[in-house]
Amino acid sequence: MKNWKQVRADFPILDRKIEGKPLIYLDNAATSQKPLQVINALKNYYENYNSNIHRGLHTMSEEATLAYEGARERIARFIDAASEREIIFTRNATEAINIVVESWGKHNIQAGDEIVITAMEHHSNFVPWQKLAEDKGAKLVYIELAEDGNLDYQMAERLITNRTKIVAVTQMSNVMGTVVDLQKLGSLAHLNGAKFLVDGAQGVPHLPTSVRESDCDFLVFSLHKMLGPTGVGVLYGKEELLDLMPPMLYGGDMISSVTREKTTVNELPWKFEAGTPNIADVIASGVAIDYLLALGMENVRAHELDLTRHAMDLMLKLPSIKIYGPQNPELKGGVISFNYEGVHPHDMGQILNESGIAIRAGHHCCQPLMKTLGVMGTARASFYIYNTKEEIDFFVEALIKAEKVLNYVACR
Ligand SMILES: Cc1ncc(COP(=O)(O)O)c(C=O)c1O
Repeated sequence: MKNWKQVRADFPILDRKIEGKPLIYLDNAATSQKPLQVINALKNYYENYNSNIHRGLHTMSEEATLAYEGARERIARFIDAASEREIIFTRNATEAINIVVESWGKHNIQAGDEIVITAMEHHSNFVPWQKLAEDKGAKLVYIELAEDGNLDYQMAERLITNRTKIVAVTQMSNVMGTVVDLQKLGSLAHLNGAKFLVDGAQGVPHLPTSVRESDCDFLVFSLHKMLGPTGVGVLYGKEELLDLMPPMLYGGDMISSVTREKTTVNELPWKFEAGTPNIADVIASGVAIDYLLALGMENVRAHELDLTRHAMDLMLKLPSIKIYGPQNPELKGGVISFNYEGVHPHDMGQILNESGIAIRAGHHCCQPLMKTLGVMGTARASFYIYNTKEEIDFFVEALIKAEKVLNYVACR
């Protein structure tokens, strides 16, 4: 049994008060909080060995290079990649998807080809594919939601065909927490000769993830959602694919040699990392990974499932609250989207803030999904390793209080 209370003590921000009340942070799907270990890694880098990497021969540059490349090795281990050559640092998950679209999509998708995504993709795994389809005359095809809020896998079997060139899906919905069966979709993609991209922005921080088990060709995620600083994303790609893809950006660091006549590009992974990278934040991301590895991702998942079961149990008893997506917590991550009948989710967000509770309200960068659900937006509570059942009790009490206030306002 992990001591989750002790975990909380590593997060100084959780001692903050909002509107005079202890902060209850339930906006983890947007970004996570950072433990002292990560904050100190940033401070230590700038105080003791701030320098540029790869090309310096002095001690500090060597230290920084070792720490930067060490983070890459840890990330490779974290997602079970065969080699650190398959780990490219980007600014965020969005940039990682754009690299795949630019460097793989533009060279492999033609008129008449199909790109399969789901109805619950974040704009980051939607808009780049939509633009590519428009530019190339290809077709974007959607796997819809089934009645139970889960993905419709029977529909997936019908839609993924030999016209499909790539299946690009989220590992977990950032709106409803729906966990996607990657093995199933990956094998459907590969059976039809298509590539398989997983948007792990929500999945990788919360679920044990093995790229070799899911056999995905690409996986993208953002470190700021998993205890790391902002400004670091990862593109994982199978080495044989990345080897064939041209760089997206050209300039320093991504070269092997340059003459007036010709440039030859660097080997993996550096050919995709042009210019000075985000050294400090990558190093601190390595520390975030150490933190999660020490907790164990099976334990992280078990803790969040425990919180989600508790929250769903309480929330499903509130008659005026509608919860979107699967109602069975076992099929979800720790993300609950809901609406209070007749109330704008922004009003719900504001009222909860008065109780010190941070949730998110709006379309969550999933406008097509909002249309499918028939709403303008939702209120969303999302959990992480430092949240407790007591916080969830307080949150549900605040929802009940909010209901009374909103009823009063609605009656006037
Ligand atoms: C499912 C999903 N994909 C992609 C992203 C984009 O992540 P980033 O903004 O870090 O690029 C998010 C962010 O919320 C997300 O939830």
